[in-house]
Amino acid sequence: MPPAALPWSPEYLRDPHPFYASLRESTPVLQVEPFGEAYAVTRYDDIVSVLKNPGIFSSARVEPVVSLTAESGEKAREYFSNAKNLISADPPEHTRLRALVGRAFTPHRIAELEPWMRALTRELLDRMLAREEFDLMAELAVPLPVTVISKLLGVEPERREDFKRWSDDVLKTIAMAVGTRDPAPILASLQEFHAYLERIIEQRRREPREDLISALLEASEGYLEVPDLISFTRVLLVAGNETTANLLGNAMVALLRHPRELERLLENPSLSASAVEEALRYDGPLQALVRVTSEDTQVAGHRIPEGARVMLLLACANRDPRRFEQPDRFDITRANPNSLAFGHGVHFCLGAPLARLEAKVVLEEFMSRVRHVSFAPGQEQSLDWGDSLQLRGPRALRLRAERRPT
Ligand code: HEM
Repeated sequence: MPPAALPWSPEYLRDPHPFYASLRESTPVLQVEPFGEAYAVTRYDDIVSVLKNPGIFSSARVEPVVSLTAESGEKAREYFSNAKNLISADPPEHTRLRALVGRAFTPHRIAELEPWMRALTRELLDRMLAREEFDLMAELAVPLPVTVISKLLGVEPERREDFKRWSDDVLKTIAMAVGTRDPAPILASLQEFHAYLERIIEQRRREPREDLISALLEASEGYLEVPDLISFTRVLLVAGNETTANLLGNAMVALLRHPRELERLLENPSLSASAVEEALRYDGPLQALVRVTSEDTQVAGHRIPEGARVMLLLACANRDPRRFEQPDRFDITRANPNSLAFGHGVHFCLGAPLARLEAKVVLEEFMSRVRHVSFAPGQEQSLDWGDSLQLRGPRALRLRAERRPT
């Protein structure tokens, strides 16, 4: 099977789904360039079976894709490899870590947050909707998740701008993107981020509070050292920010492009939870996951050698007609969407209940406040989707809305 250069291009970034459809229909597995020995898996059932088999398809063996120079690539690697980390561990280490975080990151702790989260959403919405035209990303979708996770962790929400910058920089070292980047500012930012987290962790060790960092310290019972806790906190701070912001942006774009579905939601905001599920399936924020094979293996009859990178195209699988009826249809009351947007198996997203709750609250509150919403003039044609091959969401989303009379 000759490697196919994936046609990463502005057209792909604007709308990857036609490209996914042709890959998915032509083959379940293909060798791809330019990420070394790498393969992409395109269909739902095959991705599920890969994710059910972390023994062969390892997360621990995935190296950050650093489009940094070799020397600073080493430094970046140090940041990511010297600590125990949920997302890049395999069982049995992963099982221990997940149980430990699970003790601190409980459904109860998330549910408790809802009244505060709803009040914050209303505050951001009222400020945003005071003007006829606004940027949904800058004014709501980006600040909300970072403020929520800061509150949960117990870090200062005033440092929101810093968290956003640090989180973006961490992602630049691990997510695949088009082109290369200057490593110096990224590394400086990572150093600053770690120094900050170290200070907070030390403070909580001396004086525990009612927050997730204190709960993690207590639950870890000495099993986690400071670098492990930094790494944990960093994952929590980063994993849910851009993903949740992108979910809000992608959901709104999908609704605006399907006026009938938007109308149904405006008439009945209680459909928000199922609209969120469909938005996750239709155009998810995390389009692909990566694993590395720990031995020679096969996927759908295709041989994959040991040490190869395996890209699991979640967003492609989420429109697999073998799994979903009329997969390209956006239907906010689709029965049993059950997509792979939050992954599958042992690494299934720890923050899924939090992300679902945030997105549901935003849609409910937004739809019950407005009578009409549309793209601002020229916005739909000029949407900027950034340059990431894994994270998908609009950089800005200028909208116009008319409030319901109060
Ligand atoms: C794992 C997606 C929000 C924390 C994952 C995985 C996916 C995912 C696909 C699996 C990774 C893998 O298998 O390698 C998303 C999406 C989100 C979101 C689409 C928003 C819409 C959040 C939030 C948090 C969070 C809000 C926490 C505050 C995590 C953590 C893991 C994870 C800690 C690692 C779990 C493990 O390895 O056991 N997420 N996520 N995520 N997510 Fe999320």
